[in-house]
Amino acid sequence: MKKWYAVIGDPIAHSLSPFMHDLWFEEHGIDATYIPIHVQPFELENAFHSMKALGVSGFNITLPHKQSIIPFLDKLDETAVIMNAVNTVTYNGRQYIGWNTDGDGFVRSLSAQPITRNEKVLVIGAGGAARGIAFALKRADFTDVTITNRTHRRAVELANDCGSSALTLKEAEAALGDFSIIIQTTSVGLAKDEALPISLERVSTGSLVADIIYNPLETPFLKAAKEKNCTILNGVGMFVYQGAIAFEKWTGIQPDTEKMIQIITEKLGGNYVNR
Ligand code: ATR
Repeated sequence: MKKWYAVIGDPIAHSLSPFMHDLWFEEHGIDATYIPIHVQPFELENAFHSMKALGVSGFNITLPHKQSIIPFLDKLDETAVIMNAVNTVTYNGRQYIGWNTDGDGFVRSLSAQPITRNEKVLVIGAGGAARGIAFALKRADFTDVTITNRTHRRAVELANDCGSSALTLKEAEAALGDFSIIIQTTSVGLAKDEALPISLERVSTGSLVADIIYNPLETPFLKAAKEKNCTILNGVGMFVYQGAIAFEKWTGIQPDTEKMIQIITEKLGGNYVNR
């Protein structure tokens, strides 16, 4: 029987996940479909029970339900516990299990770059996204990770939790030249005219500057980094890899991520540069 998967969110119309997963199902000859479902917060519990009743094989969760889905699930993987947020649910025939593939998705995207794991990494931000990425970097054996954040207390807390160190924004700006990988995880840059989360004045030429945002493809932060002759990495890779990890959990198959990054980049109006 045809299997079905879904993504639930509010709003959901612009999600690229159905396009991506349907293409992967087709490529691998899997008889399944992936549908976007608009679920408002007050309907979340009903929606989950309905999906169960209708035999959903797995699903993704996007804003604003990533935390509120947790009480309905049977079990959480460590990745979801760390972030206190779930973006992927698997079903093993008995239990609905919550995972969070965002952090590992980012690290896979980063690892596709020509970098080594002993480079000095700076993570800007200490929210949910930064937490997932900082822990995923540690799991992937990045040895030198520093966190900086507008609210310093949160940077210290995250650094203590994941075994890294923290700097104030001022300290990080002054020491920016020491870092060869800089990761922007805050929501700054979604709006066009926002100030940068950190000044790139002292960034080293040739360092890798990444942003987790993928729409726009080039945030003001990445534009500024390009002007400083840094290599830039936008959030398309993270988006594709978080989906690929979910797809692997559901089907046991590793989909073609590089081709998907190209397709999504072009869909968002960008030019794909083969690495
Ligand atoms: P998410 O789950 O998307 O990471 P979050 O948990 O609300 O969202 O975290 C948002 C992050 O963006 C935080 O690091 C936040 O900094 P504070 O801890 O100081 O709030 C950061 N952030 C949001 N707006 C910002 C701004 N205008 N300048 C700098 N940092 C900002």
